Amino acid sequence: MAEEQKKGLEGVVIADTRLSKVFGDIGKLIYCGYDIRDLAAHASFEEVVFLLWYGALPTQQQLARLQERLHSEATLHPTVLQALKSYPTSAHPMAVLRTAVSQIGLNDPAAEDNSQDANYRKALRLTAKIPTIIAAWARLREGKEPVAPRDDLGLAANFLWMLHGHEATPAEVDALNVYLVLLADHGMNASTFTSRVVTSTEGDMYSAIVAAIGSLKGPKHGGANEAAMRMFREVAEAPSVREWFDHEVKDKGRRIMGMGHRVYKAPDPRAAILKEHANAICGAKEKCVLLGVAEQLEDLALADPYFVERNLYANVDYYSAIVLDAIGIETDMMTPMFAMSRIAGWSAHIVEQWNDNRLIRPRGNYIGAVDLHWTPIEDRRSE
Ligand code: COA
Repeated sequence: MAEEQKKGLEGVVIADTRLSKVFGDIGKLIYCGYDIRDLAAHASFEEVVFLLWYGALPTQQQLARLQERLHSEATLHPTVLQALKSYPTSAHPMAVLRTAVSQIGLNDPAAEDNSQDANYRKALRLTAKIPTIIAAWARLREGKEPVAPRDDLGLAANFLWMLHGHEATPAEVDALNVYLVLLADHGMNASTFTSRVVTSTEGDMYSAIVAAIGSLKGPKHGGANEAAMRMFREVAEAPSVREWFDHEVKDKGRRIMGMGHRVYKAPDPRAAILKEHANAICGAKEKCVLLGVAEQLEDLALADPYFVERNLYANVDYYSAIVLDAIGIETDMMTPMFAMSRIAGWSAHIVEQWNDNRLIRPRGNYIGAVDLHWTPIEDRRSE
């Protein structure tokens, strides 16, 4: 790497954006000017979707219209449902989501239309259908029939209805709504960047979203919620949280999943809000055990000089794993839940990129050999 550059594009600005800003040094996040704490306290996910797409909070009429359009798009095309039924039940739900979203693009006659109107229609379609795909897959892989979406429920309540086949409690709906609000956008994170890179080539929205889903899947990004949940279960099996921390983290150097962040060097504001909701919703015994484990582990890290020196705090994935578990989301379905929310931000960024596009094409620092002489194949020796 050239000396002045840091690995991983750290600190590199790739676009102007009006969508969200992470104030990493003070632990603050805004969407289009609004503090995430206010949005989490007051907004529905649909209001946040509107805010990100159109840059202002909706009026009652605008919100009602958006909800109506989301309802009208929530049902899956029979070929998509048919395809879901043919996927191997062992497939990772993120791989299923990636494939199903691609298939939705196949059924869209306007898939190659990159006009702003067409892109808003695609954004709406995907925001409406991703919850239906996730709920349908969760049931199909357990041999159950999918439950059709309802048009009298908000997005969070409707998802839990389709997932469980019965209405969720207000506390569960509230927890999921807050989760969706908190994860809708987050500056130039890896999956958003991925979606903008694809868009910058003038690639269509479905291609950009499929690529973003692939980027979100990894454990250093969206996959961290799933990894954190598995880790909490492992810690719960250990003789004590302290023993696990000393052995696995201090002696073996394992990372605590759901901790640390490229941009936040102060506590992630989303983690504190999710921690409150985890405490509010955590009723059942086993769920409380895991929340207790997560809190004890966080306390150990907060008191440890290694974590303090590096400003490593719980990030959004840490307590979102506990919240999602408490509302009945299987561990390997947690990253698709992230995508269910982030589709709002991805699609808003794609529209923004189209409005002021230039091909994103960085360079590599070549460190290989030069001026080698061609060797005929019969003269080559394996090293
Ligand atoms: N547990 C223990 N140590 C950690 C850590 C964690 N979760 N996250 C980072 N560190 C340490 C690294 O070992 C490194 O230490 P060093 O300076 O002695 O080498 C230092 O903190 C910086 O880590 P680095 O991986 O260079 O930071 P990054 O900005 O490239 O990575 C993450 C950021 C998020 C990928 C990283 O913190 C991580 O892997 N966290 C766990 C996965 C996760 O929660 N991802 C979701 C992010 S929202």
